[in-house]
Parts: sequence; structure tokens; C-alpha cells
Amino acid sequence: MSCSKKTKQMLKVLTIEEKAALLSGKTVWETRDIPRLQIPSVTCSDGPNGIRRQVGKGDHLGLNSSLSATCFPTSATIGNSWDIKLAEQIGAALGSEAAALGVDILLGPGLNIKRSPLCGRNFEYFSEDPYLSGKLAAGYVRGIQSQGVAACPKHFAVNSQEERRMSMNAVLDERTLREIYLTGFEIAVKEGGAQTLMTSYNEVNGVYANENKHLLQDILRDDWGFEGIVITDWGGSNDHIAGVAAGSNLEMPTPGFDSAISLVQAWRDGKITEKEIDRCVEGLLEVIFSLKDKNSPGTAEPAVSKEDAREHHKLAERAAAESIVLLKNEDGILPLDPNARTVVIGDFARKARYQGAGSSNVNSIRQENVTDLLEEYPILMLGYAQGYRRNSPRDPKLEEEALAIASQADQILYFSGLDEIIEAEGMERKHMKLPENQIALLKRLAGLGKKVIAVLNGGSSIEMPWENCCAAIVHGYLGGQAGAGAMLKVLTGQVNPSGKLNETYPVSYEDTPAFNYYPAKFRDSQYRESIYVGYRYYDTADIKVQYPFGYGLSYTSFEYSELTVTQNEAAFILKNTGERDGAEVAQLYVGCRDGKVFRPVRELKGFTKVFLKAGEEKKVSVPLDEKAFRYWDVKTGRWEVEEGEYQIMIGASSRDIRLTAALSVKGTTDIIPYSRSMMESYYTGKIRKVPDAQFAALMGGKIPQERTTEELTVNDALCQMEKAKSPLARLIYRILTNIKDRSEEKGKPDLNVLFIYNIPFRGIAKMTNGIVSMKMAEGMVTVVNGHFFKGMGHIIRGFFENRKANRQFARKLSEGEIKH
Ligand code: BGC
Repeated sequence: MSCSKKTKQMLKVLTIEEKAALLSGKTVWETRDIPRLQIPSVTCSDGPNGIRRQVGKGDHLGLNSSLSATCFPTSATIGNSWDIKLAEQIGAALGSEAAALGVDILLGPGLNIKRSPLCGRNFEYFSEDPYLSGKLAAGYVRGIQSQGVAACPKHFAVNSQEERRMSMNAVLDERTLREIYLTGFEIAVKEGGAQTLMTSYNEVNGVYANENKHLLQDILRDDWGFEGIVITDWGGSNDHIAGVAAGSNLEMPTPGFDSAISLVQAWRDGKITEKEIDRCVEGLLEVIFSLKDKNSPGTAEPAVSKEDAREHHKLAERAAAESIVLLKNEDGILPLDPNARTVVIGDFARKARYQGAGSSNVNSIRQENVTDLLEEYPILMLGYAQGYRRNSPRDPKLEEEALAIASQADQILYFSGLDEIIEAEGMERKHMKLPENQIALLKRLAGLGKKVIAVLNGGSSIEMPWENCCAAIVHGYLGGQAGAGAMLKVLTGQVNPSGKLNETYPVSYEDTPAFNYYPAKFRDSQYRESIYVGYRYYDTADIKVQYPFGYGLSYTSFEYSELTVTQNEAAFILKNTGERDGAEVAQLYVGCRDGKVFRPVRELKGFTKVFLKAGEEKKVSVPLDEKAFRYWDVKTGRWEVEEGEYQIMIGASSRDIRLTAALSVKGTTDIIPYSRSMMESYYTGKIRKVPDAQFAALMGGKIPQERTTEELTVNDALCQMEKAKSPLARLIYRILTNIKDRSEEKGKPDLNVLFIYNIPFRGIAKMTNGIVSMKMAEGMVTVVNGHFFKGMGHIIRGFFENRKANRQFARKLSEGEIKH
């Protein structure tokens, strides 16, 4: 890594205590400063779809309010735009608001893979496909960083389950890791040039991501050439010394001096070298200096300027509009006929759900709802009825009101979706259904014999057994503060929809590839489905789906023709054959039917979004890059290409391939890493019940044994106290569960309770600003395990020792100043 003169100089004069202090956070959002050397502190802030800058008392899940900022559509929404340029523009707007609000490091974008539709945080991620995720994430990163603010793609890596997210262990083979769970990050790092990266809470094959040398050194720095810094997720450091040794530069948020003290001690004991510490400090200083040179907010009252707020609102609307997916449009009922008598039904029209819940929650500058904007659009409105209440049983009175008004109309715009309690950071969805009361009303409305146009809201895929009740279905996902206007523009035809699904809509949850494995019941989550995530599975195993990956309709039609393929690109003619201008997302998939290495029938390897005027045609080319034919070879330990004839498929979705060409490709190895006879499931793609022996073969011999202990450890989460030996711990568990359940009944997840529920004991030491040390956390576990007096002894002794050690360390730090 190249290092500036200034940083080199600093490394010479910093004391070991100062170096250690720099490597963990000062406050919830700030890094430590060293005033005597004018090393400033830098400020981090969430998040991926808007800046959540807290200036008062920080709490990382957003209970305390933050400064107002533009709320853009969430990543799952932008995932449907397939528009890299748009991602870059949103990134630039986020970057400029971050700079205006005094933020140096923006904690996003999030790009974990949607392994299962039930992951409560899917709304914050782009796709089930790593290529699409990576390209969009790289766009965000370039945009954010163009404004002098560092982006922080997260969560590296394999963080696709929210349940026990802080202490679960993802067990997967190296090929699945590289091809599915890391490729997106690789693109964000290499093509986006990310300056920072956030590690995930979980373990990957038995080692916490934040101290995983294979991830942080072998792959991130050695293979990808990452030169930035690695930051822990908030409270995600397990063993700080191991983290530093693996190259994790910054532990966040607030361990007090406990982590620094333990690092200095480890150095004294010879467990870590000064060189290893220096390497982390060096990277950190480089980033701090580069940011502070560019970025100084100056004003005491940071705010987004009025002009930016106006422009960014427009951008947010355009982004939402480009991401809306038209799923069904029988008899061209959309765009709306301005003379058709129309009613609007559904609570979501009155109060949109426009963003997700958790650390990404933005205090929006403004926010629009459909019912407030209706007058501005050419719709012959008869009226509005709420129809149902969110998170409640059916309400006969509301239903009757809705039916009464709907019976007067020619068509019904029915707004429905996933409510606030259904999906959130820190929890999984319990199923993939829309709430029962909304489905019941939909069926009654359809029973009137009127055309129903369903307008959906929500951050992830849903089952649609009610699809035949609707003449049209439009999905807005979570459209951000300007999503309502965007939706009305699409409904009325001012905007021609061009979004395509970033994820498959299965017919039912039971059909999903990880159905039998997700979420893991215990600590280990086995990724038995391997590379068969999303369409890779459905298309290979030939499973009927509701809507395929990459699918979305338009008010116009497109024709594909004249495909030519070379080793470097696929070129074809795309023509808008309809009467309206519009954009098409053309997708390039690659397959190798006769290959000896198992693989999905097709994988996305390129895409482009092309705007065409009515009747216009263009020659379009999509490059075949170095990822087009590669697979990770577990025998050679490298990316390889299998020699053979490949199919280059150009499609309007993964199930609507319009053009195919064959291409002979030279191989890079003759070694075939697998034996078909031992891994039949992986060769057929039927991976929902992979036998132990086949999973063992995939894992290179045997399935790692789950580590179980009778007693809880510092790495177990508070929600595991249900069966703890200590009655007090069981009582605390019941109280916590009670609070959690009550908040769920109220229809709004209590995110801090969810966070506490899932936090491992060690996390308490990492987030209490030095009040609790790791030793005290260990004492707590001893109490929980039924050794009350011994544990209390540790806690009390730990408390005094910690206080003393913190004071001594603070003194040492200030001595650095005095000596100087
Ligand atoms: C989330 C991160 C977020 C951090 C700070 C964590 O719980 O996983 O995505 O950036 O909190 O709020």
C-alpha cells in the first residue's frame, strides 16, 4: 500500500497508546482524534438511502432523531432500475448531503445477497444476483466518493440472515462464497474504488468476518487490491486483537478504552507486533487525512441546502419512477383511461410505506402520499376509502365503505403491501404473504366484477395466490419520499415503466431454494443450496415461478434481433416496436450446457438499459468481461474457465430469452474439481434437500461440526437465555421477549429491543463507552450460567479494574501530549 509522507511521519511520533486508541471509536459515530498531532476525528453516518446524521445523543438504530435529509428509494427499489448511471447520480446526491451534514464516511451501500425472501433486511439490498448488486453498488460508491465522502459497502460478508445475525456462523464452500456472496463486493471495490468497507457481524466458516484473514487479507487486499480501511459493524468486533491482526482498521462504536488497553497489553505480551498495529493505523490515517483535506462542513448547524433539497427530491422521484415494475397489464388497462371512473382504496395510498426500518431510517425532508397528489393527475376520481387497517384483523365497517364506493366505479386502484412490522433490520419475515385482511378485501373488490389495479408497496418479494383477482399489478417497492408522485406518473402514463425485478417471485415460499435451511435453528447456517440462489435455482431445476428474475412490462414493446457474439462482446439490434417511448433492460446470460463443472443453466453476466423512442432501433452491445466465463475452482484455488461451447443468451428476463448464440471458449485448466457421482444434487440443481454426503463432498470432505456448549458463552446472544441456568437470566429473557412481542402487536418494531435481543454478551462491552469491559461481560455470562456469586465477583471486580484502567490509559494518552 502506498503511504503519504504525512502518515509516515505520524507513525514515527505516535505512542503505542495513541496508535491503539485510534483503532477504536470515540463516540457512536466518531473516530478518535489526537489533538497534539492534529489528527482529526472523522464522522460516520448511515445510510444507504439517505443520510441519518444524529447530532444529539447518538444511538445506532435511530431512536433519537437525525437531521433532515432526502429519503431516496431503498436499494431493493433501485435494484429494479438496473440503471448504473442512476445509482451513481443517487450516490452523488447522497455524498453531497453527507458532506453538507458533516459526514465523512457514509455507511452504505448494503449489498448482501438475498438468499431467502424472508430476510427482514432484504429491502436494504439490491438483488439475489451478485453481478447486478455489484454494478449498482459500484455506481453508488463512485457517486458518493465524487463528493469527497467515503462510501462503506456493507456487510462483508455472507450476512444474509438477520436472526442471531451477531453470532451466527455461515457455513459454505469456497466456490459459493466467491461466486455468489463476494462477487458483488469485488465489483464495488474494484470498479467503485471503495475507500472503506464494513465487516459483517457473523462468522464465515467458523471465524468472525471481522477477524477473518482469508476474507480481509487473502481476498480483499491480496486478490482485489483493496487499499482502503475495514470498519467493524456497530458492536461487531469479537476479539479486537484478532481483528487488528487480520487487518481490520477500526472497531466501532464505543468500547471506551477497553479495546485499546487490550491491544497494548497484547503487544506487550508479544501476541501482536507493532508492525501489525502500524499497518492498521497507517491505512486509517491515510483515509482520515484524505477525507479531511476534502471535506470540512464548517457550519455549526449543518443542513441540506434548499436548492439541493429541491433537486434531490426530483431525483428521488425519477429514481422511484425508473424502478417501478409493471407486473401485469391485462388488456392494456394501464395507463389509466382518464375518463374511466376510478376509486382509490387502501391505507397505503393515504400513508405510503416508503422506507425500511432500522439503521437506514431517514428523517425525510418531506414525504408525499398518493391521496395528497391525486388532484394533480388526470384521473376521474370518485373517491377514496381506507379499506383496511395495517397490522389488524379485518374491519367489516371499513370493508363495507370500500365496497360501497367501489361499486360506483369502473376501476379500482387498490393500494396494498407489507406493513411496518413485517420487515425490519434485526428480524426475519415469518412468511411471504400479504396481510390476510388486505387479501380478503382484494377478493371482495374483485367479486364486484370491476377491474382491480393492485399497487404494491414493500421491500421484498411476496406470494401472489390472489394474482388472478387483478387486471393489473404495479410494484413500487419502497419508493422513498417522492415515491407517490412517481407511482402516479406511471399509472397515468407520464412515465413508461421500465423497472425489472431484481429478485424472483416464487409461487410459494415452499419453493425457495433455502427453504429447508433458512433461517438456521442454531448457530451454524449451512448453505447447502450452494450457488443455486434465486433464478439460478428456479431456472436450473425448472421450477414454476410467479414472476421471474429480470421481469417487468412496459407500455411499449421491444424486439430483439441480429445477435452477433465475439469473445469480447455480444451485439444485437433492439427496436421499440410500440407507440410510446420507453426503456428496456436487456440482459445477457451465459450458460454452458455440456460443461463438466456443475453450474446454473444461465447466469447474469451483463445488462444494459436502453431508451428508445417509439419506432426507434439501436445497435446495442454488452461486453463479455473477465467474469463472463469464470468459475471458482476449489482444486486449483483460482478463477478458471472451462473449455467448451457456451450459450450467450440475450433476454428480457431470465425466462424470456429472445436471442441465443453459441461461443467456443478456450479453457484455463483441465482439472475438474468435482465428481458428478458424489454430487448429483448440484449437477441437477435439485438442491432443496441435499444429502449429508453430497454437502460434505461440496465442502471438500466433511461437514464442519457445530460447536455446542452446555453453557452460554460471551458469543451467545441474549435471546438464547431462554433455557439459561440462572432464573434471573430466564426472567430477563421473558421480559425482553414480552417487550418485543408487545411492540410487534403495536405494528412497529422496537428496533433497539430487537438489537438487544440479538446482541451477544460481548457486544455489551463494545457499545457502552467503556462502562462495561469484556471481563465484565464474561462475568455476566458466568451469572447467566448459574454461578451467581462468582459472576458477580467478576462484574464488580471488573468494574473497578476497568474504571482504573480507563483512567490510567486516558492519563497515558495525555502524557503523549505532555511529553511532546
Ligand atoms: C447495521 C449497520 C449500520 C450500523 C450503524 C448496524 O446494526 O448492521 O448496517 O451501519 O448498525 O447504525
